[in-house]
Amino acid sequence: RYEKIWLTFGITMLIVFLVVLGVGAFALGAQTPGEHDHAQHQSRQTVNPETVDQTAPFNELGLKKIGDNEYDAYMLAFAFGYSPDKMEVPVGATVHFHITSKDVVHGFQIPGTNVNMMVVPGEVNHLTYKFTKKGEFLVLCNEYCGAAHEMMQTLIIVK
Ligand code: CUA
Repeated sequence: RYEKIWLTFGITMLIVFLVVLGVGAFALGAQTPGEHDHAQHQSRQTVNPETVDQTAPFNELGLKKIGDNEYDAYMLAFAFGYSPDKMEVPVGATVHFHITSKDVVHGFQIPGTNVNMMVVPGEVNHLTYKFTKKGEFLVLCNEYCGAAHEMMQTLIIVK
């Protein structure tokens, strides 16, 4: 008899667990892409690498001011470079990077900071960073992507 009670309990818990998982997955799937989330994070959004540079917002690359010293930076990575290849922001700027690849998997890393993400064709990755120091920040590719992988870079000037 006890076995039966425990079995029922077990099955009930399993169902509850599955329902919770299902609701969680649904809630994640229902998030609207392109929304600004101010926490530092990486999230996913699907794009077509072939046409991404003709489709908003990636048809106009670079910085867009969205608030008081706060910017969206729309960027593309390709073999072997980034577009734009240079950006300038005031010191203290919060930059929300949105980046995708035209071809293969690239990296996006600013040495000396915690900025580090993958750049994947077909997906948009996001990362937020506040530039609290003046200087020139080199963005480098840290995923081997071909012959000129080491040459891949873009510059962020903070003044
Ligand atoms: Cu791009 Cu290595």
